[in-house]
Amino acid sequence: MRFAAPSTKSAVLGAIALVFSGIFLLIKNLSEQIPIAFLTQTVWFNVFTGWLAHISKMLFIVGITAIIIALILRITMSDTTRICLMVKKSLFCYEYGNPLHLKEDELLPSVRCKTAGNGIFELTITATTVTVENIQNLSSSISSSLNGKRYKQYAVTQTNTDLAFNEVTFRIEDVTIDKSLIINNINEIKPESPTKLLIQKDTYIDLTTSGSILVSGKTRSGKTTSIIFIILSVLLAGRDKYDSRIIIIDPKQAELSRLPHVVTLDADGEATAILEAVRCFADSVVKRQQILNDLSEKKGDAVHWWDAGFHASILFIDEYVACRTIFPQKPSKENPEYCLATFDSLLKRIVTMGASAGNFVIISIAEASVMEGGLPSILRSAMTTKILFKPTITEGRFLWDSEKLKDFNTGRVYHAGDAWFSSTDGVHDNVSYVHFPIMNFAVYRELGKLLDAYYRTE
Ligand SMILES: Nc1ncnc2c1ncn2[C@@H]1O[C@H](COP(=O)(O)OP(=O)(O)O)[C@@H](O)[C@H]1O
Ligand SMILES: [Mg+2]
Repeated sequence: MRFAAPSTKSAVLGAIALVFSGIFLLIKNLSEQIPIAFLTQTVWFNVFTGWLAHISKMLFIVGITAIIIALILRITMSDTTRICLMVKKSLFCYEYGNPLHLKEDELLPSVRCKTAGNGIFELTITATTVTVENIQNLSSSISSSLNGKRYKQYAVTQTNTDLAFNEVTFRIEDVTIDKSLIINNINEIKPESPTKLLIQKDTYIDLTTSGSILVSGKTRSGKTTSIIFIILSVLLAGRDKYDSRIIIIDPKQAELSRLPHVVTLDADGEATAILEAVRCFADSVVKRQQILNDLSEKKGDAVHWWDAGFHASILFIDEYVACRTIFPQKPSKENPEYCLATFDSLLKRIVTMGASAGNFVIISIAEASVMEGGLPSILRSAMTTKILFKPTITEGRFLWDSEKLKDFNTGRVYHAGDAWFSSTDGVHDNVSYVHFPIMNFAVYRELGKLLDAYYRTE
């Protein structure tokens, strides 16, 4: 009863009052029927029955009032209060399994809940005598405590511990809501701003706070299509006056390579054109940074690329691992620059320095495990937005700490376009589930047209 909702407490109080009201009325009626004349005629007897009737009436009024209050409380109780109560009941009542192994009279952790918009709630549990580690393990107990018609589809999707190790915040949301964008026409992709790329109803990649993007996933998991979506959004913002460019590299000579302005292998199977494109992009980083530095000097304060009217510049290398294998390990005498080391060092420079000039690299890899060998570790740590398509826990562990993945339901079947996503924008630092937009139009044709239009304004 201690953790029951106020409405339940009020209803129980009302019911008890009504029962006692009935009992008092019954006693009154029975005693009036007792055939003992001398008793029934005394003044005291009348006082007694009058008193019983009065109490019974009072209890009846109290009972009915308490039940009405219970109903009002039930109807007006906020979602956050309901969630708090459900969780408290399941964590603190012994009959629910006592997941925190609490002892009798132990100080209970405090539980708070607030809304975070869009039907998402944040439940915070503060550690007391219970350790933060024990609280971190509560996500499945919390998910299963959310029941009833209204909440059964809600579950914990993220667990965050504050830096001071005092409290744990669980993100609770309706896991059945489909937030996917369905786009039937290229004109429906309207970037809100050139720096904010919408990927599903409430999820953005914010280029002002994040860096280059690493996209991993098996073949046909949706990598190329989803990156094209990101590129379409940037292309639609148009070119800026500061040498912004969208360079697409398709080393496998697949669908992309047939589009205009896409760089692929040379006729002889070498990658000199690819290396040249990467070099041009690296040069443009230097140029753009110089413009920003000049502006900053004039202003006497740092000028950000987006404030200076720059648009994002993108270098997309599809199938990055395949691309690396084409470069010779050792440079030849005729062309000493053409080798893997040059490619790697140019890319390192762009990934580490590009974001401040609005230049971003997007790399796609088919095997997350190449993180261990094929992907230079400096790139791995500098690519701050990570996306894993058709994810599995095993692949996820190559990209994120296991700790960040523990709220993911491993039994779920993922389809093309389904992904886990994290970014360093302060909002998506933890891994969350996303579905990339479903594009029901000729994606490659529109990409080709937009690339043409983009460079025509040169
Ligand atoms: N966001 C999405 N939603 C639904 N299906 C998708 C999505 N993205 C891709 N697909 C499907 O997956 C297929 C493979 O996509 P693709 O981008 O070529 O994968 P990858 O580059 O990982 O090999 C596409 O033909 C498309 O039908
Ligand atoms: Mg692909």
